[in-house]
Amino acid sequence: MYFSKMRIDIITIFPDFFKGPFSHSIVKIAQEKNKVEINIHDLRSHSTNKQKSVDDYQFGGGSGMVMNIQPIDDCISKLKSERKYDEIIYLTPDAPTLNQGTSNKLSSSKNLIILCGHYKGIDQRIRDYLITMEISIGDYVLTGGELAAAVLTDSIIRLIPGVISDETSALSDSFQDNLLSYPIYTRPSDYKGWEVPEILLSGNQKLIEQWREDKSLERTKKIRPDLLK
Ligand code: ADE
Repeated sequence: MYFSKMRIDIITIFPDFFKGPFSHSIVKIAQEKNKVEINIHDLRSHSTNKQKSVDDYQFGGGSGMVMNIQPIDDCISKLKSERKYDEIIYLTPDAPTLNQGTSNKLSSSKNLIILCGHYKGIDQRIRDYLITMEISIGDYVLTGGELAAAVLTDSIIRLIPGVISDETSALSDSFQDNLLSYPIYTRPSDYKGWEVPEILLSGNQKLIEQWREDKSLERTKKIRPDLLK
């Protein structure tokens, strides 16, 4: 596992999009603590044509524009000439779905490139020759890869060692051992008669752990039985 700074390069046609998601909370602190460096690359600035266009009509006809190879190849090639990348990721709905296992694995990377698609998608040859990993964040279609990139980046960054100060907090997340999290409570113990389960106030840590395990399993069976297979 790498404890040095992780570098994430995001390629997008909407560079300003990321100002919001990356300037709050844990992701912001991770950058301030030098645990991660996020670089946003404006794809349009890599286009060699006069109009700085990055897309074109689809061969064979059909609606929807397709993102051209040239700007993406130039941008990725430049980055690859500067350092070695663990993965070059393309976000697209027609890919394996992101899960906690994938985020765990990616959190030990040194350098990652994330490419955000738009319009109908990208020229297949980019996927064949440049991309090393494809990820969907769920079975629905977004207008572009930017939101998906923010989701993926967030899920990776919070797992970098030292980013979440309470190390056990990330370990007890939902999905960490293919189980959903147990129910959690804070003060007051009685709010308008809505009471906290008594066992949590008992101080008996062993019984509390057992109760949490049971609840995790119960919730998973009820809500996400597919996780138990
Ligand atoms: N781009 C559009 N929809 C997406 C999805 N569900 N996951 C990843 N990238 C996408």
